Amino acid sequence: MFSVPTLVSLLLLAVPHVVYADPCVAFDAEFNLLAFGLNGKDWNAGQQSSWGSGSATDITASGRPPFDGTGTTCYLAQFFNAIYVLNGDKSNPSDVHIYDAAAKSWTTQKTNTNNFDLTNFAAILDHDTNVFYALSKGDLWFLDMSSLKAATSSVLPWTNAETSPYGSDYQPTMALAQNHVHFIGTPGTPAGSAEIFVIHFSFFQPQAQAYSGPQFPATHGQTTSFFQSEGVQQEFAFIPDDFSNVYVINVESNTTTTLAAPPSKDTNARYASSITALVQLDSTGAVSFVPYKQGDASTNSAATWSSVAPIAAVAGTSSGSSSAAASGTSTGSSGSKTSATGSGAPAGTRLSGTASATGASASTTGTSNGAMSNAVSFGAIAGVMLAVLAYLH
Ligand SMILES: *[C@@H]1O[C@H](CO)[C@@H](O)[C@H](O)[C@H]1NC(C)=O
Repeated sequence: MFSVPTLVSLLLLAVPHVVYADPCVAFDAEFNLLAFGLNGKDWNAGQQSSWGSGSATDITASGRPPFDGTGTTCYLAQFFNAIYVLNGDKSNPSDVHIYDAAAKSWTTQKTNTNNFDLTNFAAILDHDTNVFYALSKGDLWFLDMSSLKAATSSVLPWTNAETSPYGSDYQPTMALAQNHVHFIGTPGTPAGSAEIFVIHFSFFQPQAQAYSGPQFPATHGQTTSFFQSEGVQQEFAFIPDDFSNVYVINVESNTTTTLAAPPSKDTNARYASSITALVQLDSTGAVSFVPYKQGDASTNSAATWSSVAPIAAVAGTSSGSSSAAASGTSTGSSGSKTSATGSGAPAGTRLSGTASATGASASTTGTSNGAMSNAVSFGAIAGVMLAVLAYLH
């Protein structure tokens, strides 16, 4: 009859049809770490000094998006202490949900996509203009959020600005620093260089910019920009899909330094940065951070990652489950690379990666997975398999 490994294999084959919801992480303007959509709730883990112990505060409030979408991403509008959520509601994918972090309240901004494809894009929120720039299938789009910390009654348009020079097959990896959008891994651009779009002149710089120091690979990956206490970001972290390092690119000096690769080698993980920390949220809902000190390359290269304990305490994730999840997700993640296009905003699904995590660890599914909304589906599949087994007996 079926051995247990055979049953597990069959379950693994069955699971990828299940749809997972994505949580996201962002900082507010006081650099409290907020995690949205973990175990159906939203959490405030406080500032970095409090991440070693204790419990996060439940900030779940009415008007929030259900966080049942895929490719959910969150962005801090630093001037307004507001967080914008894209793809937070799978039933209303064009909605932008706005969290006013000071008022702790949610509103829903309606947009007209004008055929902007919310399942296939990467985006940054420009610091100074508060405009989203997004690349989707080779086209550059924008959405002007003006000064919003609550929705307006007018419908905001996604506008197709122009065609990029990078071709429609380029899976965008884009990052913001100094009012410039940086694109990594564009066709023909070598390792250690980025292509640049100059926001204020709406201009694609014709030459790639090279960065001295450790060369980042010319591949797809995730990015997040380190904030400054005032003014525009000057540095961004690039986490390539090969996890060779975290590369920090300074666009003032045009140099690259490194941080240790994150604990979870999960290409579907998402990132957020404050001034002094880089945070990873992986597909299982585990949240980890590495401290960061701008301008101190030797401290940074020696810094190590830790679990954000206050979130682990409330959302059932810990550094232990994080490393278990890392090994569980690595196989599936590489398989799902083509579907994860976004730097800030991935395309489509993260099915393979999360499915592997499910199959690899039943306890992850049941108890510790904040990202998952489908334990019932998994149970149903398991039930069907058991019924098949019983029938064959
Ligand atoms: C860094 O790169 C930017 C973008 O290409 C460029 O405008 C700037 O002059 C460079 N800075 C230095 C110090 O080379």
